[in-house]
Amino acid sequence: MPTENMIRIPIETHTPYEVLIGKGVLANTGTEIRRVAAEAKKAFIVSDDTVLALYGKSVRDSLVAAGFRVYTLAFAHGEEHKTLATAEKILSTLCAAEITRTDVLVALGGGVVGDVCGFVAAIYLRGVKFVQIPTTLLAAVDSSVGGKTGVDLPAGKNLAGAFHQPSAVVCDTEILSALPDRLFSEGMAEVIKYGMIGNAAFFGALENGQADLETIVETSVRAKAEIVKKDEFDKGERMLLNFGHTFGHAIEKLSGFSLSHGEGVAMGMVFACRYADKIGFSQEADIAKRLSAVLARYRLPAASPFTGRELFAAMVNDKKRRGDTISLILPRSAGDARIVPVPMETFKEVLTGL
Ligand SMILES: NC(=O)c1ccc[n+]([C@@H]2O[C@H](COP(=O)([O-])OP(=O)(O)OC[C@H]3O[C@@H](n4cnc5c(N)ncnc54)[C@H](O)[C@@H]3O)[C@@H](O)[C@H]2O)c1
Repeated sequence: MPTENMIRIPIETHTPYEVLIGKGVLANTGTEIRRVAAEAKKAFIVSDDTVLALYGKSVRDSLVAAGFRVYTLAFAHGEEHKTLATAEKILSTLCAAEITRTDVLVALGGGVVGDVCGFVAAIYLRGVKFVQIPTTLLAAVDSSVGGKTGVDLPAGKNLAGAFHQPSAVVCDTEILSALPDRLFSEGMAEVIKYGMIGNAAFFGALENGQADLETIVETSVRAKAEIVKKDEFDKGERMLLNFGHTFGHAIEKLSGFSLSHGEGVAMGMVFACRYADKIGFSQEADIAKRLSAVLARYRLPAASPFTGRELFAAMVNDKKRRGDTISLILPRSAGDARIVPVPMETFKEVLTGL
């Protein structure tokens, strides 16, 4: 399939790469991977059982046509398998298949597969190439770009990991348009976040339902690329991407994870707006109301079942806390969020009043 009409977004990290976005681009996987792994003899697909059944054959066929000898390993789907044990199993299988440094790994799946496969790629033989093929909207607009990889530990999420950029990202929007509603909405929480933190026009387009899927993915990936370029190793500005997440994680945790990550982030973003309103930081009246309406359009909840007091109790151990202050991401207006360090005492006082 010709790729001239597809969107290519350069990601300018210390090892630059491109995100290819388009309808049906999955059929080009082999050629795309050949572009970035010219020497590779073998391609090793890592996926989960659900995604492999849906898209494994297309990817495998495309890789075989591009001259790769193809290996596949799928683990059981779900966050509970984003573990060191899964990573170890993949590492052992890579050894058994005699995958070398010139070969390439292919992460076919959502954020869980991308994070685990990326982590394995970072540590196997001290680093091999990998390519991301995101199959959820969240993975397409967020986790597949930027090089954060890792696994969960019993003590918490994403506690072991590495920065390791992919060599390419191949994003087929046809896959995303076939996603079940809940998974799609889950990713829309991150999309709406990009509008809120830095792109008023995009937020407006989402508000009016004028953004098509290609635009949604392209604009989001460009937004992430811009932030990652400025702060690849998460030392400052990348924190903006946490908008809604600090509150969201607390909400997810308090719900015993019956609320999804996207639902938590949606409610968390509304909390951040209400907080900004309350302290007079927001320059836009009713910003929480405006955000809530956009969330509703994409079937995301706005109202948290938990109070500010409950959130505070759940948040005191959050990793975004630095000593006696906490870094909040607060909106000045829709399209302009800032990193605001707040003393814990003030934070407690304001939040418990919400
Ligand atoms: N690395 C990063 O920068 C970053 C950023 C955000 C999130 N994450 C991580 O991403 C993970 C969440 O990602 P996710 O929401 O994609 O979850 P996921 O990978 O668990 O996928 C969700 C579910 O959807 C299924 N699925 C995937 N693609 C599908 C498709 N096309 N059709 C039908 N079902 C499909 C999966 O099998 C799984 O059951 C978390 O572990 C989170 O920590 C990482």
